[in-house]
Amino acid sequence: MTLTSAQIDEITSAALVAIGSATDLEALKEVRIGHVGDRSPIARANQALGSMEVSERAEFGKVIGKGRSTINTAFEARQKELEVERDARVLIEERVDVSIAARRTPQGGLHPLTLLTNEICDLFIGLGYRVAEGPELESEWLNFDSLNIPADHPARTMQDTFFIEPLDSRLVLRTHTSPVQMRTMLEEQPPIYVICPGRTYRADELDATHTPVFSQVEGLVVDRGITMADLKGTLDYFARAIFGPDVKTRLRPSFFPFTEPSAEVDFFFNGRWIEWGGCGMVNPKVLRAAGIDPQEFSGFAFGMGLERTLMVKHGITDMHDIVEGDIRFSQNFGSGLR
Ligand code: DAH
Repeated sequence: MTLTSAQIDEITSAALVAIGSATDLEALKEVRIGHVGDRSPIARANQALGSMEVSERAEFGKVIGKGRSTINTAFEARQKELEVERDARVLIEERVDVSIAARRTPQGGLHPLTLLTNEICDLFIGLGYRVAEGPELESEWLNFDSLNIPADHPARTMQDTFFIEPLDSRLVLRTHTSPVQMRTMLEEQPPIYVICPGRTYRADELDATHTPVFSQVEGLVVDRGITMADLKGTLDYFARAIFGPDVKTRLRPSFFPFTEPSAEVDFFFNGRWIEWGGCGMVNPKVLRAAGIDPQEFSGFAFGMGLERTLMVKHGITDMHDIVEGDIRFSQNFGSGLR
């Protein structure tokens, strides 16, 4: 094969034209194959050097070497140029608008009342209690009569109780969780250790401190040798777990038809005594109504409002916040999801 300088010039200028007209990196890749790589005319010319006369080799070697370096330099320069162009284009095309409104997927959460209920149940389960529940639509007998609340008791009048029509259905929306005591005692024999959270109803207007639909938690223990000291110790433990280790409780004499003796339980928190709920030793009449022998067994019971407990614990001043279900309120208490 004979090569002339003019041919090398041609090869070189053809390569330069091709390099110059490649408008993107893809096209330049093709140009590399055709004009720069191992099979390009200039590379072939270089390979052909080997078969030349030694005398010609040195001279042509220079010519070809010059052509190759011209091509390579032009190629690299174009490659850089096109890379800069591509980078600039990508920056524009793939721009992220950080000011665009984000699509939020807020995590759900448990209502603070549910969180408190779970906390109380966990606490009592730790003491060996079982969680017991009953219906919100309750028989008048279980809600009142069986608990020794006579027909003429003020709690039974129309102002307090939601009666269900027809009235001779003898159904009410339960006014407290105490009927779950009776349900439990009717179903099982002592020893009984139950904690009964639930929703309760009374004909109150919704205001800052009242709500017609509220929640209570009831505790019931029936066993041999249960005394008021067990009740007091349990309430102390309960109060400390909910309000902190320094909280104190006190019992004030009171009256409930289903306990004898009965007491109000208060706790001392942030420098004042706060009413928490009712409690007492299960009235032997109630034990007997459930078929439990009061000679053999005794028991204690207590019941308190959960909204009030929550309000004091967290310094909530308006009941509306608890009942209205605004997620921004609930979020302050954490999701409670595990
Ligand atoms: N059931 C009562 C109420 O709603 C509270 C209560 C008082 C519950 C004394 C009890 C108890 O278990 O022993 O006002």
